[in-house]
Amino acid sequence: MEINIQRKEAIEAIKTVRNLKDLDAVFKRYLGKKGEIALVLAGLAELTGEQKKVIGQKANQFKREITEAINGKKAELKELALVESDDMEWLDITAPGKKMSLGHLHPLTLAQRKASEIFQQMGFEVVDGPEVESEWYNFDALNVPKDHPARDMWDTFWLRQKKLLLRTHTSPVQIRYMEKRQPPLRIIAPGRVFRYEATDASHEINFYQIEGLMVGDDISAANFKAIIQEFLRRFFNKPVSVRLRPSYFPFVEPGFEIDMSCVVCAGKGCSLCSRTGWLEVAGAGMVNQAVFKAVGFKPREYQGFAFGMGLDRLAMMKYKINDIRLFYEGDFRFLKQF
Ligand code: PHE
Repeated sequence: MEINIQRKEAIEAIKTVRNLKDLDAVFKRYLGKKGEIALVLAGLAELTGEQKKVIGQKANQFKREITEAINGKKAELKELALVESDDMEWLDITAPGKKMSLGHLHPLTLAQRKASEIFQQMGFEVVDGPEVESEWYNFDALNVPKDHPARDMWDTFWLRQKKLLLRTHTSPVQIRYMEKRQPPLRIIAPGRVFRYEATDASHEINFYQIEGLMVGDDISAANFKAIIQEFLRRFFNKPVSVRLRPSYFPFVEPGFEIDMSCVVCAGKGCSLCSRTGWLEVAGAGMVNQAVFKAVGFKPREYQGFAFGMGLDRLAMMKYKINDIRLFYEGDFRFLKQF
């Protein structure tokens, strides 16, 4: 009998179904509006009394059985679905996890943090200042008068607003700090500075400096030399010698240029130091009394030193990087190495 065969088929189909979607298809096929049972029941009208009765009964029994089987299967699948996904994929808890790539710090940030840490250990406070500065803080208060040729030492980005500019060095932070505090004081001010100039392997339109300032009753150039040498020794993690060459900056008197023994050849002469054995790392000097005057300190009351170090240069030497522009290009092949 046809219904018997279909019954077997249907029960088998329900048994092998593996998800709710397929189970629903089985339901539609047999019990749906246009399903097998509906067709049989529709055909009853054409049959005679006895046949009608027999087939009608069988069809109804078939319907009950299938409904029951489908409901049972549905409950079973729903329970399973709590631990498995629809397509029966197992969650393999022993499989290796997806690797999460964590961000990391930029080499300049690493160098800046390292430098700050060392100076803090030596008792320096780390302070901050604005990148957009006034002419007063960037130049005038630092003893660089308007129309003085010394101003040409810094190629300046001027802003449209009168007398505003992108700071050309971190030295204005000296002024801002001394306006509010009295000596003794010991600070560093790391930060970004800007110069309106052509770029090449050792020049960028913006770079980083670390300003240093130590003022008291009798702070000397010898103190400066000891501190800068100790800083460099710790920063590069190797013994270094330091030498001071006379130089000129309007805000110091006397002024000097700081060289350290080459980190690659230790003074013998190599390509990094252009065979000189020395690397230039900072400008420095004894704070000019004109600067103390600008911040309102009594004349000749205090003395101290100031320095400005190129952080990019230090980082280039520490990590052996030969082009400053790499710091600012955002190239992952470069950045991922740190
Ligand atoms: N501000 C100077 C520069 O950028 C560096 C410097 C700082 C020199 C402090 C002396 C003292 O060139």
